Amino acid sequence: MKILFATHNNHKVSEIKNMLPEVTIVTLDDVQDEDEIEETGLTFSENAAIKARYYYQKYHLPVIADDSGLVVTALNGEPGVHSARYSPSGSYAANNQLLLERMANISHREAYFITVICFIDNFGKEHYFTGKITGTITKEEKGTSGFGYDPLFYVPEFRKTFAEMSLAEKNKISHRALALNQFKYYIQNIFQKNR
Ligand code: IMP
Repeated sequence: MKILFATHNNHKVSEIKNMLPEVTIVTLDDVQDEDEIEETGLTFSENAAIKARYYYQKYHLPVIADDSGLVVTALNGEPGVHSARYSPSGSYAANNQLLLERMANISHREAYFITVICFIDNFGKEHYFTGKITGTITKEEKGTSGFGYDPLFYVPEFRKTFAEMSLAEKNKISHRALALNQFKYYIQNIFQKNR
C-alpha cells in the first residue's frame, strides 16, 4: 500500500515510517510539491480535511494529513487552530512569550495538545483519528528539547514538561503518537483482513 503523507516535516515522516514499516510512505518532498494551502478551518478536523482533500484530488492516492495545536481552557481554547501563528512573528519564542503573558494571573492552567489525522482511502472515503494529552501550562519555560510550546507544557504523570523529556519519551505519549497509533491499528486491521 502506498500513502501520500501531506507534510514537509521530516520529523513527522520518520515517526510514521517507523510505526508503519509495511506501508510505503510518499511525502510532499518526494513529489516535489511546494503548494501553499490555506488552513482556513475553524477546527483541527476541518484543517486536516482541507489538506487531505486537496492532495487526494491532485494525486489520486490515499492521503494522510494532520493538524495539531495547543488548547488552553482558561483562554477559551486559544491558541487552538492558530497555534503555529499565535504571535505576529509566529516564532516559537514569541508564541511562548505571548502565551505566558496571556496566562499571567490565571491560576487555572489546564491545557491539552491535540492532533487530528484525516486519512482518505483509495475509495475516497474519509477517516479521522484523534490523539490528545492533557497537562498544565507552566509559569516559565522549562527544558530545552522538542519544539513549539514544549517548554510550557507540563505533564503531571511524568512531572516534566514535554521539553524536559527525551524525544523517545515524548513520542510514546504525545498527542501525535496517540493519533498515529490509532491510525496504525486501523491500517493493520485492513492488512490482516486482506491476507
Ligand atoms: P502542526 O499542525 O503539527 O504543524 O502544529 C501546529 C502548531 O502547533 C505548531 O507550529 C506548534 O506551535 C504547535 N504544536 C503542535 N504539536 C506540538 C508539540 O508536540 N509540541 C509543541 N508544540 C506543538
